[in-house]
Amino acid sequence: MTPTTNDPHTLGAQLAGNPALNAAIDAIVGEVRAASSEITDVRGPVEGLAEGYRRAMERATEARGRGLLYPYIGSGLGNGALVELADGSVKWDMICGIGVQFFGHSDEQLLRAALHASTEDVLKHGNLQSNAGAFEFAEMLVREAKKTSRMAHAFVSTSGVMANENALKICYQKHAPASRVIAFQHCFMGRTTTMSQIGDNAAARVGLPLNVDADYMPFYDEVAAERMGGTKYIDMALMHLEQYIGRYPNQHSCFIFELVQGEGGFNTSTRDYFVALMEMCRAHGIAVWDDEIQTFGRTDRMFAYEHLDLGEYIDVVSVGKMTQACATLFTEQYNPKPGLLSGTFTGAGVEFAVGMSIVERLVSGGYYGEDGKIAGHHAEFRRQVRALAARHPELFPANGEIADIVGGQGGMMRFTPFGGEKDKIIRACNVLFDEGVITFYCGHGPYHVRMLPPLGVMKMEDWPRVFEIVERGLLKAASGA
Ligand SMILES: Cc1ncc(COP(=O)(O)O)c(C=O)c1O
Repeated sequence: MTPTTNDPHTLGAQLAGNPALNAAIDAIVGEVRAASSEITDVRGPVEGLAEGYRRAMERATEARGRGLLYPYIGSGLGNGALVELADGSVKWDMICGIGVQFFGHSDEQLLRAALHASTEDVLKHGNLQSNAGAFEFAEMLVREAKKTSRMAHAFVSTSGVMANENALKICYQKHAPASRVIAFQHCFMGRTTTMSQIGDNAAARVGLPLNVDADYMPFYDEVAAERMGGTKYIDMALMHLEQYIGRYPNQHSCFIFELVQGEGGFNTSTRDYFVALMEMCRAHGIAVWDDEIQTFGRTDRMFAYEHLDLGEYIDVVSVGKMTQACATLFTEQYNPKPGLLSGTFTGAGVEFAVGMSIVERLVSGGYYGEDGKIAGHHAEFRRQVRALAARHPELFPANGEIADIVGGQGGMMRFTPFGGEKDKIIRACNVLFDEGVITFYCGHGPYHVRMLPPLGVMKMEDWPRVFEIVERGLLKAASGA
């Protein structure tokens, strides 16, 4: 597809190439760079801003009808992994809006892409009328996905949960009238009424009528697998799946795979476990849907299915978060009939431009592979946790349910102080926030401290600085101070 911006014959293309416009964008980028470069380290709130910040927080609470999880309102400026809040404080952002800002804060290249796209005639594009960005974004995702899977097309949408809704509709339609779904224990899929029902979290569906029939499979459990022996563990899971299939013959439309569980606790699995389940799905005509909304871009390959070499099994993939705009990818066989997918918005031109810039950087930035930047950061993260635990074993009491105090995959990082007790982990996250490192928790018990750091811009030398604060914060949380 020829981008409109390269077409010399349109006025729009001429505007995009206009030297005065480009000089103005350079000037803006330069100003932001100068301001951003003043942010160099963590600091507390600036004197005189505390009262205004408290009032802003109250207004946010009033507008939302409930308080914020963290007292976080950004100032609009940051520098890499550091972000400034509206009270003037600066913190290490190790959670990035739950995985959205992989290239951190005030990134020059993404700002430039956003500025260019913001000169387009409209902000939001739709399924009826759109500039080229939406299609180029979809095309780029398919180009990358195709390298190791059968993905043929992508339908763009506005949020992760909408990408999942579209994935489910595609699976339902292909296998109609099959109406059941199979999902993993501890899965998370988003917050529509349907996805809240499938997500394995009772609190997320309080008061919702239940009209989706979901059957749950155990996610791979390293401790149990070790106890039983790997092959027996897989046989047990296959027996479990066969029972569902036998109990409801031809009624399952899809099995939803989160290859590294996000909200569920950054749980990982062996390839063999997934292969066994996916082969059984294939044998019974059940779609294999891979929800990569949290994993995309973050494992040792761009797609988690590539990392696990599972591309041949996948029928549908949903992506989001780091991609800015979201999408559902599917094979030729799963291309739905006209009329199934649509909606007013596909997204904002700025989202497509920034999303494409991100994917291009992921492709060419040396992030993937055994020696890639992501693997390097993950190894350093583990080293920092182990060193911390060696210095303070009292912070990491043994708990038979926890295979390891440090875990996750690539840019999905977790560690488990305080035996994974919910209250203590939440308290630890709050103390770390106050001290200057923003994390969040994950898991349903044991609970873990979770990091989704901006590995796109993080430097190796940032880790000891982050962990110096983590150490201080955990000691403070432990002491109850
Ligand atoms: C695996 C997974 N699926 C779906 C979603 C929903 O995405 P969104 O919050 O953008 O709707 C999330 C969000 O955390 C997720 O982690």
